[in-house]
Amino acid sequence: MNLIREIMCGIFGIVFGTRNTDLGKILLEAGRRLVYRGYDSVGVGVVDGKSTDLRKDAGTIEQVSLDHQFTEIGGERGIIQLRWATFGRPSRRNAQPHYDCDEDMIGAHNGNIVNCTQLKNLYKSEGHKVRGWNDGEMVVHTVEKYYDNNGGDLKAAIMRGDQDLHGDYAFVITTVHSNEIFAVKRGSSLYIGVGEDFICCSSDLPSILPLTKMILPLIDGECVRFDSDKYEIFSIVDGKEISRKPKESELDPETANKGGFDHFMLKEINDQPKRAEMLLQTLEESDFVDNFIERIAEARRTFMVACGSSLNAAITGSYFFNKFSGLPVIPVIAGQFIDNYGYSITDEDCVIFISQSGETKDVINGLNFLRKTEKGTLLGILNVLGSTLMLNTDAYLPLVCDLEISVPATKTFMNQVILLYYVALKLGKLTGRLTAKRSRELTRELHTLPHLLARTIEHVEPKVKKLAKKLHGTQDCYCLGYGVCHGIALEGALKIKEITYVHCEGMYSSEFKHGPLSIVTKDYPIIFITTPEDTYMIVSHMNEVSCREGRVIVISEDSRSLRVNSHHYIATPRAGPNLSPLINIVPVQLLAYFWATANGIDPDYPRNLSKTLTVD
Ligand code: BG6
Repeated sequence: MNLIREIMCGIFGIVFGTRNTDLGKILLEAGRRLVYRGYDSVGVGVVDGKSTDLRKDAGTIEQVSLDHQFTEIGGERGIIQLRWATFGRPSRRNAQPHYDCDEDMIGAHNGNIVNCTQLKNLYKSEGHKVRGWNDGEMVVHTVEKYYDNNGGDLKAAIMRGDQDLHGDYAFVITTVHSNEIFAVKRGSSLYIGVGEDFICCSSDLPSILPLTKMILPLIDGECVRFDSDKYEIFSIVDGKEISRKPKESELDPETANKGGFDHFMLKEINDQPKRAEMLLQTLEESDFVDNFIERIAEARRTFMVACGSSLNAAITGSYFFNKFSGLPVIPVIAGQFIDNYGYSITDEDCVIFISQSGETKDVINGLNFLRKTEKGTLLGILNVLGSTLMLNTDAYLPLVCDLEISVPATKTFMNQVILLYYVALKLGKLTGRLTAKRSRELTRELHTLPHLLARTIEHVEPKVKKLAKKLHGTQDCYCLGYGVCHGIALEGALKIKEITYVHCEGMYSSEFKHGPLSIVTKDYPIIFITTPEDTYMIVSHMNEVSCREGRVIVISEDSRSLRVNSHHYIATPRAGPNLSPLINIVPVQLLAYFWATANGIDPDYPRNLSKTLTVD
């Protein structure tokens, strides 16, 4: 759970001395710099003279800000909040910020108020106008209750109200009656930024640094009140003033947005453990999964349709469906789907469209073809909520990766593979291929993956960096995988092609001897992605290369027999036969990343490529 709390949601608040006609634009830009924290709804609340304005909804920040004209908003002070749903589903009512009963107080929080339900029932019984299920709304009603009873002393109301709130959180609140914002830190991160003609606060630095580098982190148990040119920090418990000065931050906005990593790609690789944790928690808690799985179980045939990394995830997923559920789930290149399978689809068939953007034209073409013929059950696996794919399928499952900025897919690929693995386990229980006990054991084992991924990143990074330097100058290579590692080898080849500009072909390792072996000359590099369980097959494939003086590079869980048969060996931590293939994804991604940077290439924006291709 800790992994989750660190990164979900985000709040930002700012106070100007006079009315600022760009207040909405400033809040929107600050919100954009918090999207990496994960969210599914967003809103802004401002005070403009003696009036308030609150605009919010479920969906992406780009869509919601467009629908509700954030950029038209002016005022002296305001709050933006990006919410990742825990209490109360993603909806306009549950989106933040929130009003108090008579709409002259606006507040938002980040984190969890664990006694949310009790407070909701209490305030309803006391006649409060409770509009939704979100715990952030209970914070506002709590402060309002004491504010109204103490004659409008906001500081005293916050100190008293804080005693009624249980959990880890940070919250920001303001009213039309004073030109200040108050911000409380109780377990979730909160920073103050001191500018020339404003003061602001935020969950994280990327939203503050573009405005000012004068930063003052808050400490748990502290509250700060600020207007446009002065601030006061005090203890939330006894109100005693705390004096602390802001310091100039060395971080530049871009780096801060990259969380201190040199590139978004490396940040997103390192984000994988948290995103995997969030996905598994979401899948465990959501009631969408059963509906999604039942549709596959009932189908005569099931296909997966995708492009690029998403296709490699589908190829890997088909292995899991065969192994765990005993069902053939056929991966198909999206561009081929209509010509090779489209006309054969009947109402008894199920087609799973996999696309992190949910907008890839090749994928949407297949989706629209079936929507027109009205054939088949249409399912989606996607990352971007509100995308065309999400809005046009009978059911979908989210990847919960939030924004993936780097063009080469990493965390979304990882979560696609994890999601397909999870679905295959649950499906296996339905088809009877797995006993309920075995399905539970395997699901429990899958929950150890996020921490295994974190250990793998730390363990392999230095070794992969060295290997990338050895491969510098290579112009051509292959990346081979057997069994479940075939899809991962294809992904490795794609990553190398995408960001090092080296030609790398991915292939099933047993297929290599049927022709491509002719490419091998002295020192020609062949990368094998494998597991100790496949040693029996893969060692002969390796020796077919090394006996012709080719260079054998192996990525796998630590294994003596693989090590002795390779020229370069990247051993991953012990993870067992089920999870070690997924663990192999990390060194594959890091190898491409360090190889690209060794080639002086920016992996985030490789030439000719785009994150989403909405053209044929
Ligand atoms: C390509 C991207 O344009 O589209 C790849 O460069 C990606 O990284 C592919 O895997 C498919 O994208 P999506 O959004 O359909 O998963």
